[in-house]
Amino acid sequence: MSRSIRIGMIGFGVVGQGLMRLLSERGEEMEARLGGKLEIVKIAVRDTSRKREASVDPGILTDSIDEILDDPSIQIVVELAGGVDEPAAWMRRALESGKHIVTANKAVIAEKGEELIALAEEKHRFLLFEAAVAGGIPILRVLREALTGDRIVRLHGIVNGTSNYILSRMASANLAFEPALREAQLKGFAEADPSLDINGGDACHKLAILARLAFLADIEPSAIPTQGIDIVSARDMEFALDFGYVIKPLAIGARLNGALDLRVHPALVPVDSHLAHIHGATNAIYLEGEHLGPVMFSGEGAGAYPTAVSVAGDLFEVARAILSGSDDRATPPYGVPLRALKKLPQLPAEELKTPFYLRLTVEDDAGVLADVASALARHRVSIETILQTVDDEEGIATIVLLTHEAFEHAVGAAVSELSRHSALREQPVLLRIVR
Ligand SMILES: NC(=O)c1ccc[n+]([C@@H]2O[C@H](COP(=O)([O-])OP(=O)(O)OC[C@H]3O[C@@H](n4cnc5c(N)ncnc54)[C@H](OP(=O)(O)O)[C@@H]3O)[C@@H](O)[C@H]2O)c1
Repeated sequence: MSRSIRIGMIGFGVVGQGLMRLLSERGEEMEARLGGKLEIVKIAVRDTSRKREASVDPGILTDSIDEILDDPSIQIVVELAGGVDEPAAWMRRALESGKHIVTANKAVIAEKGEELIALAEEKHRFLLFEAAVAGGIPILRVLREALTGDRIVRLHGIVNGTSNYILSRMASANLAFEPALREAQLKGFAEADPSLDINGGDACHKLAILARLAFLADIEPSAIPTQGIDIVSARDMEFALDFGYVIKPLAIGARLNGALDLRVHPALVPVDSHLAHIHGATNAIYLEGEHLGPVMFSGEGAGAYPTAVSVAGDLFEVARAILSGSDDRATPPYGVPLRALKKLPQLPAEELKTPFYLRLTVEDDAGVLADVASALARHRVSIETILQTVDDEEGIATIVLLTHEAFEHAVGAAVSELSRHSALREQPVLLRIVR
């Protein structure tokens, strides 16, 4: 008879129920692969009386997390509840009592990862979180293991499905931002409170985790400049398309001159680029290795089953180690001990150069276009393409232009000067172009 690996699960919502179903549907095959059985012996939730889609023996449901954390027979704790402070406290207790941890919670790893991983290292326990970034795409394992022979120089990701869904719908159905958001909520892509999706916070958490793995950088989410997608309008989508671009919510990481360029913001990407074809709630990560060159991963970034598949992959890794008696030599989650992560400086804004998209809504007066051109020229920003449309009835002109590569601070200074122009009717919209 094969040995059982005893698992305590905290959380039985979308992902927790997905994992339960996956283990019951594929249990036999998994057992054959593993030579052991993954057995969920306890599930902690807030409300045990809530009706759930996945069937479960009511005897294993509890509203007491202590029943998991204080049970010495439980070897792995799977945290699928969400939040930051509470799960961090559960994880500390679990590690202290010698349990391994698997989680899908990016927020706790991005915010408290350093402390928790240090504890996991000290206790020689696994702390794995594949599902925390890009749901079903096994990108962390690829960075931690498959690509360690190379040096990652660039990483572009669409890692937040909700914001990608919203921008995709704005582009394909010509929806305004608010209706596209409501549609995402109705379809179950966006949370009831979607602020972290829209303001870039969720993508920032994921980029911090990716940057630690890809660049071995000791990086805090608060150090990553982050801009949300709510500055993008349907008009920008249309203008971008006229110029041969689509607007995507990007998480960007690159090594440049011994520093790191890390950013989260919406950006124009060429219509024929790989990332332009990532639609809806799909996630994608484009990597460039020094020797490997470009490689791209795409797939379901969320949802019960895709996320559960990643959680199950982590459970396998831990279970294999337990079964072979080597679980006291846990692989560090970033592939190296925490102390090997380096504090790399963030590329100073003065050194950041990229082409820009700028939209200005102004009164249709003679001379405004010339003022725009000379403000940009004064700051050494050269224009690549310019387009002007006029609404005769309203007496309003829209000036849209693309710049050649320009320093971020120079464009910022020119735009701040133009923001004070007396003919300006709306705040300028400035977006970066990523080619
Ligand atoms: N959903 C996805 O597609 C997805 C993708 C990748 C990563 N994740 C991450 O996976 C985690 C879970 O997400 P989810 O979508 O499955 O969440 P969810 O559907 O809201 O489920 C959360 C579960 O946790 C339980 N819970 C919450 N706080 C608790 C507490 N203090 N004590 C005990 N149980 C508690 C809830 O209990 P009740 O049922 O009794 O309320 C519920 O069963 C999150 O960290 C999320 O960021 C989710």
